[in-house]
Amino acid sequence: MLAELACFEQRCRARFPIDEAIYNCTYCGGLLEVVFSGPRAEAPSLKKAWRTRRTSNEIVEQSGVWRYRELLPFDGHHHQAVSLREGNTPLLSAPRAARYGGLDHLTFKHQGFNPTGSFKDNGMTCGVTQAVRLDRQRVACVSTGNTSASMAAYASAAQLDSIVFIPHGNISYGKLAQALEYGARTFQVEANFDQILALVRVLADRLGIYLLNSINPFRIEGQKTIIFEMLDQRDWNPPDWIVLPGGNLGNTSAFGKALRELCQFGFIHKLPRLAVIQAEGAAPFYELMKTKTDLRSVPEPHTLATAIRIGDPVSWRKALHEVTVTNGVVEKVSEQEIADAKAVIGQCGIGCEPASAATLAGIQKLTEAGTIRSDEDVVAVLTGNVLKDSDYIYRYHTGQLKDPDGCQIEARFGNRPIVVPNDAGAIAKMLEE
Ligand code: F0G
Repeated sequence: MLAELACFEQRCRARFPIDEAIYNCTYCGGLLEVVFSGPRAEAPSLKKAWRTRRTSNEIVEQSGVWRYRELLPFDGHHHQAVSLREGNTPLLSAPRAARYGGLDHLTFKHQGFNPTGSFKDNGMTCGVTQAVRLDRQRVACVSTGNTSASMAAYASAAQLDSIVFIPHGNISYGKLAQALEYGARTFQVEANFDQILALVRVLADRLGIYLLNSINPFRIEGQKTIIFEMLDQRDWNPPDWIVLPGGNLGNTSAFGKALRELCQFGFIHKLPRLAVIQAEGAAPFYELMKTKTDLRSVPEPHTLATAIRIGDPVSWRKALHEVTVTNGVVEKVSEQEIADAKAVIGQCGIGCEPASAATLAGIQKLTEAGTIRSDEDVVAVLTGNVLKDSDYIYRYHTGQLKDPDGCQIEARFGNRPIVVPNDAGAIAKMLEE
């Protein structure tokens, strides 16, 4: 298929070549998306080819992103793919979480099984491959942590220089540690995510650095494969709902685009509904859906789920379109609700980082409100690995977790470690009690 970049704004729709290094429409400033045209293989033959590729020993066939390359804009370039065998993340059934969320059955698609532990790897393999295709030596991003970890890894794998900008003091140590370990030049800026994004855009323009935030349409293309793989794993039976956390809203945009393309190209015949969940202190998209106006940014977003601590989500227009097209909903959840949902996901033997747990907290609210019925088929996407934020976990279980306003979060599902003497008799006595 022929791939081009197109302005997302319906009144503009200007087109640009796929190898132009731009992130916004040069006419109206709108977001860009990849569009396809021309002949393409039929859905049944692609479904078969994608299944067969899983058995290959070639890394581009094993990758849960590049396996689906016919629906990605890298025609003939996939041999240049910078891959760490991303994707291939499992669908996990979670009966205890289902009960907690008010559902008969619930499945998690766990993106924390990715090489750097988050869904960002699906997008980053494409973003960095595009940087290579454009012959760029330097890549940069601002991040609440996961994008930077992922970019640092993929850039190093491709022997590119990576420059990471993060809000000082507001990302988890696990994520910061990853950026350092993978060799990124790391700047901790005294500002929040939204402010730093503006700064990085200026620097990228001035210094000719390739920007790998989710305004980069190739990141969005890669993240579409989370949905492709999910449906492949379900033998192309769409669920009723797909639930995901919302921050900068790149993933919401990617999921909606993936679903529309699968429908348009004949892979599925029904669109699942998207449910996007935000943290109460960083919920501009939720407010937008409620008031039906333009987005009003939150100047000082706050949440312990630092991954989604974003007040001015750059992809909100795309996300609004996707939520509308899928007849979706947006919900917001409190810090206590996120913390408890996270512990319940842990008790399923699954675990995830705080932002991911917003999904289960949101499901509980949406079933209580009757928006999601208990017998509906729901897949929630866990976006990050449990070890991304171990500090949060320790504090929750030991009753030391406080929300950003300083209020104590109750350890309703707490599991305190117990200090004991080195004495078999004493320990045996405690275990028998
Ligand atoms: N969950 C996790 C674990 C994340 O890291 C992010 C975003 C989201 C959800 C929200 O996804 O922005 O596409 O709506 N993290 C970005 C970062 C912003 O810099 O790592 P979104």
